[in-house]
Amino acid sequence: MPIRLTDLSLTVLDTQYAVRGPIVARAAELEKAGRKILYCNIGNPQALGQKPLSYVRQVLALCEYPELMGLDHKGIAERSSAADPLPEQRFGSAFPPDAIEAARHILEGTKYGLGAYSESKGVLAIRKAIARFITERDGIESDPNSIFLSDGASKSVELALRILISGPQDGIMLPIPQYPLYDATITLFGGRKVPYYLDEERGWRLSRELLDKAFMDAVRKGVKVKAICVLNPGNPTGAVLDHENIAMIIDFARSHDLSIITDEVYQEDVYFTDFRFYSFAKVMSEKGVDNVSLFSLHSISKGFLGECGHRGGYMEIRGVPGEVVDQITKLQSLSLCSNLPGQAVTYCMVTPPKEGSPSHDLYIRERDAIMSALRDRAAVLAHGLDGIHGIDCTPIAGAMYAFPRVSLPAGRTDEDYCLALLEATGVCVVPGSGFGQLPGTAHFRTTILPSMDEIRDEISLIADFQAKYE
Ligand SMILES: Cc1ncc(COP(=O)(O)O)c(C=O)c1O
Repeated sequence: MPIRLTDLSLTVLDTQYAVRGPIVARAAELEKAGRKILYCNIGNPQALGQKPLSYVRQVLALCEYPELMGLDHKGIAERSSAADPLPEQRFGSAFPPDAIEAARHILEGTKYGLGAYSESKGVLAIRKAIARFITERDGIESDPNSIFLSDGASKSVELALRILISGPQDGIMLPIPQYPLYDATITLFGGRKVPYYLDEERGWRLSRELLDKAFMDAVRKGVKVKAICVLNPGNPTGAVLDHENIAMIIDFARSHDLSIITDEVYQEDVYFTDFRFYSFAKVMSEKGVDNVSLFSLHSISKGFLGECGHRGGYMEIRGVPGEVVDQITKLQSLSLCSNLPGQAVTYCMVTPPKEGSPSHDLYIRERDAIMSALRDRAAVLAHGLDGIHGIDCTPIAGAMYAFPRVSLPAGRTDEDYCLALLEATGVCVVPGSGFGQLPGTAHFRTTILPSMDEIRDEISLIADFQAKYE
């Protein structure tokens, strides 16, 4: 007999992921039937027209096919005699010398090329480059042995939660609203969710009062709270936490003996000129805190790279004892290693072309064009939605989304609203309930990734729809 649904565990059946839920399935049906759909449901930049950076693709192409540099698949030079010209002199002209150098460095680090497994944590030369990136970004030491390359941040979220959830009594604090991967993974691993609300009236900041309340409520229910997850910049909120807020969260974690998982995948996506990204690692080190375990995540999927399909990123851990690091390494080794092309792209993310190098100017031009388009669309979208009667939208300080609040007619839910919006206009957004929201409020999430013309169309379609929705 084939496997039945009832054979599956409740944790699998209870796991939800709204970003690709029923509304998106309906959008695909409508599209198949010939309707034009504007997909605003997922932060997948290259699916919505963002172009990959030339430098990243050049390095990747060279790593995948070292023959382009006259090297064999392991990146070893094929020179029959010392009198032969160097391989890059023969073959390298189509590629800038700094891209060739980066590809050779990556290949040397892998020893056997991209077609072989690497060590479980990832290629050491790439982990060293990540450590240098962290040191340059934050002015703090970073240990390559505390860095784990991953198939995107999603896998690091899984790994960290797998380590932290040891039984059904273990609770993980997660923001409401949150990126639903957190809720889903805690459910899947049989842990308890300990939601804490973000304060919409204060630009979705965290408040110590709300954190303490969430913690105490959980303790009263017999939950052993193990960790707090923080998304900075936030998805779906678009909030960028300031230094003071981060310091407050670290104090909170320290006072309750919690680990911190900090999801920093949108660290490049900060749009307000007077805001900046601070990593938890930096603030923790400034405060001299060394007795809180920190799991920091980064990814190649967001920022101006938008390389979601290449599945790359890393987790850096701090304040984690060696014997636990060994267990993390063991879990990572179950899948042998993260994919090598993703590791190569991660190397490019943390090692952009240096000033004065041949690829530098193009890289900066491409980066700045992407960032300024994101910034402009964030401003137009938030302003446009906020101007619609019945919709309030917090300005988008960072990340890739607006999360506006909608007033609904009595008896309607946010799911009804998003489905009706899709059917009427072809605009595909995700209901706020998929991310969590304060009871009695309704929201939806929409990305800033479509083109400016499409964003303007989206705003006017939503405005017309909103005026008639009953
Ligand atoms: C906050 C957050 N974390 C993690 C991820 C997953 O990213 P990755 O593609 O690196 O797995 C996303 C994707 O949208 C995200 O928004």
